[in-house]
Amino acid sequence: MIRTAILGTGAYAPEKVLTNADLERMVSTSDAWITERTGIKERRIAAPSEVTSDMAVKASIRALEMARTRAEDLDLIIVGTISPDMPMPSCAVMVQAKLGAKKAFAFDLSAACAGSIYAMSIADQYIQTGKAKRALVVGAELLSRVVDWTDRNTCVLFGDASGAMVLGPSEDPQRGILGTYLHSDGDAAGILTIKGGGSQYPPSPEMLEKKLDKVQMSGREIYKYAVRALPEAVLEALGKHGFTTDQVTHLIAHQANMRIIESVCERLKLPLEKCWTNIQRYGNTSSASLPITLDEANRAGRLRPGDIIAMMAIGAGMAWGSAVVRW
Ligand code: ACO
Repeated sequence: MIRTAILGTGAYAPEKVLTNADLERMVSTSDAWITERTGIKERRIAAPSEVTSDMAVKASIRALEMARTRAEDLDLIIVGTISPDMPMPSCAVMVQAKLGAKKAFAFDLSAACAGSIYAMSIADQYIQTGKAKRALVVGAELLSRVVDWTDRNTCVLFGDASGAMVLGPSEDPQRGILGTYLHSDGDAAGILTIKGGGSQYPPSPEMLEKKLDKVQMSGREIYKYAVRALPEAVLEALGKHGFTTDQVTHLIAHQANMRIIESVCERLKLPLEKCWTNIQRYGNTSSASLPITLDEANRAGRLRPGDIIAMMAIGAGMAWGSAVVRW
């Protein structure tokens, strides 16, 4: 059996920092409220000239360098995003062109904050079956352009960034992605939306006036959903491979809210120190969050051969997933 390894990771965040103090001047909020309720201290905002594929390419180049892989050798590119450059063509073909990855087939994947774990799962299937030898998985989001900067319920949460990983066959069949487990629940579709711009609410002055082109959410509903679904998903993934939580070396988590991460760790009886966090610096970067977190832990030298890594992410859909990786 071919096992998929994560051969390289990369991340990118724009230079501009927007702090909680900056937000205090924009909406009725406070550093104390944001810090206490979310753990976020600052987030990054893309430059006006920057588009999502530019950010995706920067993270991808870093991941390709680490994987010692040339863009020309990529067979597959999947970009998880809900904020692509444009509705058509995909962000992934923009990335393909900018990287010069001529051989690859490329497409976007819409699973919101679970985009990267979904994309990783699909790429894993291609590598396992031998249909692809090198796959690039990217999560890239330019959320500052789909956030309503007058809505304190949402604008304090999100940031712009990208993360990437290069996947390929593992030399050691014991090491690599052991399994990925995905779930969706369309009955909960209404709790987190960008309703405008599609077939239901096509662009119109009325749609823009109602701000349907911006993120709308029921924060408390999402919170309750996440703290139930995420521990279940991690336990499902670990159980399928005969692991218990005390065998987990690292939890690589989508960074939505520090309280969600703490609650999941508590439910799993997993020490918080096993979970790398960067929500303080980036806020919620949706599909970019998981690969950025993996890259930071990786580049900090935290991930050692043989380590058992559990991954988890959840977002609009609801769509969520988990993975177990032996590093
Ligand atoms: N500053 C100050 N006050 C605020 C702000 C703000 N930025 N935002 C909301 N409030 C107020 C509310 O209006 C409310 O006031 P009220 O009691 O007078 O009505 C009060 O704070 C409490 O609001 P709650 O919604 O109950 O606060 P809660 O403790 O649930 O925290 C939060 C809100 C941070 C949004 C939390 O529910 C959360 O993180 N949910 C998950 C949302 C999320 O992660 N979305 C991203 C995409 S999905 C994902 O990534 C998993």
